[in-house]
Amino acid sequence: MIAWVHERTGLDRVWKALFERHVPEARGPAAWLYTLGSASLFVFLVQALTGALLAMSYAPTPDHAYDSVRYITGQVALGGFIRGLHHWGASFMVVLAVLHMLRVYFMGAYKYPREITWMTGVCLLLLVMGFSFTGDLLPWDQKAYWATAVGTNIAGQTPVIGGVVSRVLKGGSEMGAATLTRFYAFHVLVLPALLAMVVLVHLFLVVWHGISELPERRLQDGDPQGP
Ligand code: HEM
Repeated sequence: MIAWVHERTGLDRVWKALFERHVPEARGPAAWLYTLGSASLFVFLVQALTGALLAMSYAPTPDHAYDSVRYITGQVALGGFIRGLHHWGASFMVVLAVLHMLRVYFMGAYKYPREITWMTGVCLLLLVMGFSFTGDLLPWDQKAYWATAVGTNIAGQTPVIGGVVSRVLKGGSEMGAATLTRFYAFHVLVLPALLAMVVLVHLFLVVWHGISELPERRLQDGDPQGP
């Protein structure tokens, strides 16, 4: 039956390309550096799952947002745990993506032919920051409100386009109900869709090119790009 499915879907080839591909043999601490991309991907999936669970009890309106977050933390079964996972996952995601970027940079893995993988990575990092910025407002407490006030005001100082950016973010000239709705829409609709799309392109390119070898091995191989 499995052979029947494989013949009609080519799933065995997809499986081979994804899970049986060659990865560079690295030992000791260097081997761990190659796990940072997958770790970022894992945390993204945890964020998607815990975010979906939180969205089931969260109310994105100024009157109810704060109370709904308190309700999630205090009364929903495992609510505090799930919120905690989402909260810490958000920080981990930024840290892991930056560490992954540093390993790619210091190993020269951004060089030919992986320049577009690097560019999609930069988009991913910006999107991850977008998640932090928009998610910060959702608890709608004092810290959330004023942190967003500062953030939108900083964006408003951008030369030429600052005014428009600030108005688009706030949903008007002042922060209020429209800001919360807008940030929520960005956080749960726009950014996840964009991140999922860019991650797919990123992973496609990673599989397409294969993971780069360790820098010293590339030198031994006489690779003109060097380490
Ligand atoms: C949401 C964030 C990200 C996810 C989920 C992700 C995922 C991955 C995965 C799973 C790999 C293969 C395993 C590995 O090399 O660790 C990879 C490789 C790569 N990533 Fe990312 N990545 C992210 C962010 C970034 C960033 C911020 C950059 C750089 C600006 C970047 C650039 C690259 C490059 C150039 C490779 C190829 C490395 C090689 O061939 O050795 N990625 N990424």
